[in-house]
Amino acid sequence: MTAAKRTGRGKRPSPSPRANRKPAATRPPRLSAHYTRLVRMAGRARRRAYAPYSQFPVGAAVLANDGTIYTGCNVENSSYGLALCAERVAIHTAVASGRRRLTAVAVVGPVGITLTPCGACRQVMEEFGVQTVIIAAPRGAPAVLSLQSLLPIPFTRGWTQSRRAGL
Ligand code: THU
Repeated sequence: MTAAKRTGRGKRPSPSPRANRKPAATRPPRLSAHYTRLVRMAGRARRRAYAPYSQFPVGAAVLANDGTIYTGCNVENSSYGLALCAERVAIHTAVASGRRRLTAVAVVGPVGITLTPCGACRQVMEEFGVQTVIIAAPRGAPAVLSLQSLLPIPFTRGWTQSRRAGL
């Protein structure tokens, strides 16, 4: 059956969804299925944020090299300096679950804000091999960044190891 027949009684068939698509150059790049899931899980984790002091809820999800995903949210404290970032909660949960080889982290912050991870979290990502950081606002288009671009000259564990070895 043709599209025209399906719509019945003289109605014009609606234009194909392709007709409404933006030109490729203005569309954000399509995320892989893994990354789409990662962003969705970070968004869900954000709902569990404990941020009564900053009112700045953040969720994160980390992808391990075996495909496992761990999530985290920021957890604040009345002693403000004890706040934990969502990214580090997610990464340390992965490590505590036996996953030390991590490939990507997705971060979702408050509505209308596409945040980039703080410096401390970038350094922790570096420690466990994260290469890709996906940042997204809730309901916003995600952006995919390399950790290399966010932390071009990290402190590396090689330095402490060679020092211990007396080199
Ligand atoms: N925060 C995160 O969880 N991740 C970031 O990348 C930046 C900041 C949290 C820490 C604190 O609970 C709140 O956001 C405001 O800084």
